[in-house]
Amino acid sequence: MAHPDRFLLAGVMGWPVMHSRSPMLHNYWFKQHHLAGTYVPLAIRPESLAAALRALHALGFAGCNLTIPHKQQAMTIVDEVDALARSIGAISCVVVRPDGALAGTNNDCYGFIQNVRQEQPGWRADAGPIAVIGAGGGSRAVCYSLAQEGAKEIRLLNRTFGRAKGIADEFGGPIRALPWEQRHDALEGAAMVVNTTSCGMVGQPLLDISLDKLPKTALAADIIYIAARKRGNRTVNGLGMLLNQGRPAWKAWFGIEPEVTPELRAMVERTI
Ligand code: ATR
Repeated sequence: MAHPDRFLLAGVMGWPVMHSRSPMLHNYWFKQHHLAGTYVPLAIRPESLAAALRALHALGFAGCNLTIPHKQQAMTIVDEVDALARSIGAISCVVVRPDGALAGTNNDCYGFIQNVRQEQPGWRADAGPIAVIGAGGGSRAVCYSLAQEGAKEIRLLNRTFGRAKGIADEFGGPIRALPWEQRHDALEGAAMVVNTTSCGMVGQPLLDISLDKLPKTALAADIIYIAARKRGNRTVNGLGMLLNQGRPAWKAWFGIEPEVTPELRAMVERTI
């Protein structure tokens, strides 16, 4: 056992959070590495986020992941934000320093791109227009990484247009914000569509979008995959993104880079 003197603690803060598969993933790694520790779901209301993050050090947590709706608000609470997270404008992971300072980083980009590459080795960001649905913290990481990977045209659609416009104005480059009413038509000629909204999660409504105009050759990423798969589109689901973004988090918290094994993937997949 690498840390026999310490019980290792980490978790995921979200609201809601009980649907999260992160505890299953991280607790598998604790077992695999014969470490005494646990990873817990932390149901934190948005108004309690600052108090919850500040409590991590006193409770002995190495850090936490952040999920909907905390990724942007947490940026204003932590003490340091690394360059990548600053560019994205959201943090997905907090590391507690020995002195209690909170460092924010973003592993969503790594998880998203790594997963697409694992699932679709021939994938290229510049293969054609990409439609991104949603404009929260997750979307910021997706848009940023797609632009970095060389996407030529990103059609960004969000229920609240101002948030999509904000990302397009801030990131510039290939990102164009389109009104929500155009979401069905914006799929025309797309090489890829990415759902970054909370729609489709347990207890949330399904995303209100017609895939009729999405070419059959397009790659559908994330939650839309259930609907898209029925039409024969190639799909990449959010599970691989989750598994892959756990690796750099573990490296930062515990100094170990765990493996995403087929057994782990199959175990989590069985619960979806
Ligand atoms: P995160 O930072 O983790 O991405 P978030 O900021 O709460 O979380 O973003 C959630 C996304 O899901 C937003 O794009 C949100 O749209 P709004 O900006 O209009 O709130 C989107 N979303 C949530 N419920 C939705 C629904 N019923 N229909 C369409 N979009 C929805």
